[in-house]
Amino acid sequence: MNIHTYEKTWLAVSMVLIVGFIATVTYGAVGPGIAMIDDDGGSIDPDTINDDERFNDPGVTHVGENEYEAAVVAQAWTYTPSEITVPANSTVTFYVTSRDVTHSFTVAGTNVNTMVVPGQISEMTVEFDEPGEYGILCNEYCGAYHHTMEGKLNVVP
Ligand code: CUA
Repeated sequence: MNIHTYEKTWLAVSMVLIVGFIATVTYGAVGPGIAMIDDDGGSIDPDTINDDERFNDPGVTHVGENEYEAAVVAQAWTYTPSEITVPANSTVTFYVTSRDVTHSFTVAGTNVNTMVVPGQISEMTVEFDEPGEYGILCNEYCGAYHHTMEGKLNVVP
């Protein structure tokens, strides 16, 4: 092999790595037994959250055989609902919005992690293959009691 061939080989290898890294970020497994499928959103007027069908009584809705939707409202310093329970082997689309300032919706130990910005709906679809218990926490500084802002996610058998 001459130098030129080495160069081409390494260029190809690095391209594969870069594409691989991007694929991992986009499609990668997000934690033990769960996988992110989709991450999209929409907008909402933070002052009229209560008029929105999804957010006036936020929680988990069964929408298909193994499909659920979970609407969550973040505000200083709580999530509503504070506890989410879904069955294992289900696909859950989360819709999360904020009533006040920027928070995050982060499922500890996984890469389910989205900023929750007032005026926007953070949408994420996640597959839960295995039962488990996860902490939900806020990792965007949102004021004096930011560190106490937490919830719970139960994936039940
Ligand atoms: Cu909400 Cu930090």
